[in-house]
Order: sequence, then C-alpha cells, then structure tokens
Amino acid sequence: MAINRPKGTQDHLPDGSPKLTSDISARAFSYVTDTARRVLERAGASFIATPMFEEAEVVKRGVGGSTDIVRKEMFSVYYFGDHGGYVLRPEGTAGIVRAYLQNGLKQLPTPLKLWTHGPMFRAENVQKGRLRQFHQVDYEVLGSTDPLVDAEAILLMVQVIQGLGLTGVQVKLGSIGDPEDRDRYNSYLRELFTPHVERLSDDSRDRLERNPMRILDSKSQADQALIQELQVRPMLDFLGPEAQQHFEAVRGHLDAWEVQYEVDPSIVRGLDYYRRTAWELHHQHIGAKSALGGGGRYDGLAAQLGGHETPGIGWAFGVERLLLALEQEGVTLPESEGPLLYVAALDPEHIGVAARVALSVRAIGAAEFGYKAQKPGNVFRDAERKRARYAGLIGSDEAAAGTVTLKHLQSGEQQTLPVSELVAYLTGQAAADMPASQALDSRA
Ligand code: HAM
Repeated sequence: MAINRPKGTQDHLPDGSPKLTSDISARAFSYVTDTARRVLERAGASFIATPMFEEAEVVKRGVGGSTDIVRKEMFSVYYFGDHGGYVLRPEGTAGIVRAYLQNGLKQLPTPLKLWTHGPMFRAENVQKGRLRQFHQVDYEVLGSTDPLVDAEAILLMVQVIQGLGLTGVQVKLGSIGDPEDRDRYNSYLRELFTPHVERLSDDSRDRLERNPMRILDSKSQADQALIQELQVRPMLDFLGPEAQQHFEAVRGHLDAWEVQYEVDPSIVRGLDYYRRTAWELHHQHIGAKSALGGGGRYDGLAAQLGGHETPGIGWAFGVERLLLALEQEGVTLPESEGPLLYVAALDPEHIGVAARVALSVRAIGAAEFGYKAQKPGNVFRDAERKRARYAGLIGSDEAAAGTVTLKHLQSGEQQTLPVSELVAYLTGQAAADMPASQALDSRA
C-alpha cells in the first residue's frame, strides 16, 4: 500500500523535484521566511520559538471558546495512551504571550518585538490555500499601547509584501473597539438576529447565545445571505471615543508614511483576543475569504492567560498563501547559488584528498566533492550541473605535489596551485566575482 502524506498537508520540495510547482518549492518557502527575517530584524525584532503543542487551556483562553478554531479545528495531542490535555497550536500568538509571561520577558526593553515562523495546525475543510498544517510568519510586539506601534506593525507587513515583489495586495483596516464597545455591538447583533434565528445555521444559533459577532465570520452561505439582507451595521459604528481616537491616530501615522490601505468597517477577525486595531491583507487573485495575513491589537490577552496586564499587537502571514500569490503574479525568485567549488579525484586512491580539499574550503563557502573517481570531463560536467563557480581536479600529479587543478567555469581559465593557498585564493576571487545582486541588498 502506498504511503501518502495526511490530507491538508504539503511537502516543500527541493529544486529539480519532478512534481515541483512554485507553491511547494522549498526555495520559495525560504525566500518568504528570509525576506520576513530581513525586514523584521532590521526593525529590531528578535526571533522566538515556542512549542508546536500547548496546553489546550492556553489556546482556549487565548483564541476564545466561541471561535471555530477552538470549537471545531483543534488537533488534540495524545501520548502514552493518555490524553495530555494538549493541542497542536492553531496559531502562534497565544503561545508567544504564554512564553513572555512564563519566562519573565517583561524585563527586556519595552516594547519587545518578537518574530517567528513555523507550522500551525487547524482541522479545516481542505481547499486551495486552506490546509490542516500550514505555516505562518508571525510578528508580535508586547508592552505598548502606542498607536505608533500599530502603524509600524502594519507598515512592516506591507514591507514584507514589497520585499517579496508582490503588488496585488490590499490592506483592509478596521477596529474591533474596546470590550465595552464590543458588548454594545453584540447586544445590537443579538437583537437584530433573534427574530431570524430559524434562518441561522446551527453553529450560528449557538454563536447568537455565546458571541453574536462570530456570526459575521460564519462560513455558511445561508448566514452570509442573512447578514447581507439585514444590512448589518459594522463594528466600526460602535467604537467608543477612546477606541475611535486610537483608530484615527493609527490612520494618521499610516497616512504620514504613505502606506496604502482601505478602511473596512466590517473587519471582525476570527479570533476573540482582539481589541481596537484589526486588519487583514488580501490579494486580488486569491479568494476574498482567503486573507494572505491578518493581525490586530490584543491588550487583554496576557491577563486572560492569567498573567499581568500587558498590551500587545501583532500579525501573521500564511506562508502557503504568499506562495500562491507569488505564483499567481509570476514573481521570479532569486536563483539559488551553486557551490564555490566542486572537486573530484581522478583515481579512487585520491578521493580522500579531494574530500579534504572540499572540507577546508567550507570554511569560506559551499564546497562539494565527488564520492567516486571521475574523468576530467565528467568533473567539469558535474560542476556545471551544480552551477559551481570552480571545478577542482586531483590527479596523481596533484596528489603527489600537494596541488589542485582549478578551472573557473565561466571563463574557462585553468591553473594549478598549492592546496595550502587555495582558501586564500578563493577568498580573494569570491569577493571579486560576487554578482552585484549579492553585493547590494537590492530588494531591501
Ligand atoms: P489568522 O487570521 O487566523 O490570525 O491567521 C493568519 C493567516 O494565516 C491567515 O491570514 C492565513 O493566511 C493563514 N492561515 C490561517 N488558516 C490557514 C489555513 N487553514 N491554511 C492556510 N493558511 C491559513 C492569526 O493566526 C493570528 N495569530 C495573527 C496575529 C498575530 N494576531 C496578532 N498577532
């Protein structure tokens, strides 16, 4: 019986794989995470990693008991035949805030900017761009209520998009208000929907009791039709003066920085921890229901998890959705670089010498060696296939003299030089050869 990967998961494959498409290319995947790293670390964010599973309570209290994520999409983790009360993380924020509280990160300079990337798990109905194991790039800022931090977070998301070379992306900005504002909105929604309760899906009847706002992000077509018909007023109409002022301040900073966005009064997001600023990034070619990313402020989350009051804000991109967008837009990815050197022996007894040459060159760059003796023509052919900059030959003359014959593949220039001088020679040449695209960070 063939063994297949689980439904709703993907393999990210190396270049040259027969079934490779750009949305499952490991190189494209690294392109996304490398771009995010560059943008976020330049803004002062530090990398953090937290476990892939957390106590269910962290996710329930964080993401919210009335969300689809908690009610329907959690993967439980069982071990030693017992239920450990753990779940695979469906998102990164709750775990990061848990780690912040547990590890005393409050001591670090405030606001603390953190970023991570890694797999997340949601047992959803699988479709294009909607997976059960997907990956997020995640940015979180803890310790500040300043609207400037909100604006910078949104700007950084836009800069990641620009760094990737994507153009068809729109920022949709809204506000979820403060808890009192949301209570008022929920009362309004309860009053509005109650006379139509029989038309709501089973899930939404339950939402009407627990948290009516969740009806608005229902995936049921019937619910969405009713929402249209009732001309539901948006959350933004219910903001209190403080949340309104905060929203205006965020917009002021974004306008000053000329960040393009559209106010979307109906943004509600799918997680319960949000307060005030909330936004999503959408792509023109990927369905309206499939955001590339989203985020918002979550000033109540730390206290919700049992910790000290700590304001926070952050966002996450779905890496697979970014890969789909890159494919849709036909963005050309930078070529992966071949090794600096491919070196092989011409006789079996000198394979060890060739290996030692390659190992020494790895101190300054990528170097590979042949595991079998090869004819010179095959050494050059393999070096070209690997897109190496130099090919090296170790024949019996070279082995006896402690030299290597080196061919610069682009110019065809060939020379023999002592192995003891090789690293110094290649260091000088590598600097001179470096393509302009690597010397300058052209997409920054
Ligand atoms: P989210 O909107 O649930 O927010 O997820 C962020 C992004 O992850 C989505 O916009 C989407 O691109 C991707 N994503 C979500 N579910 C799936 C799926 N099943 N398959 C593929 N991609 C998916 C959060 O997770 C928040 N933690 C973001 C945040 C960080 N808010 C504050 N800090």
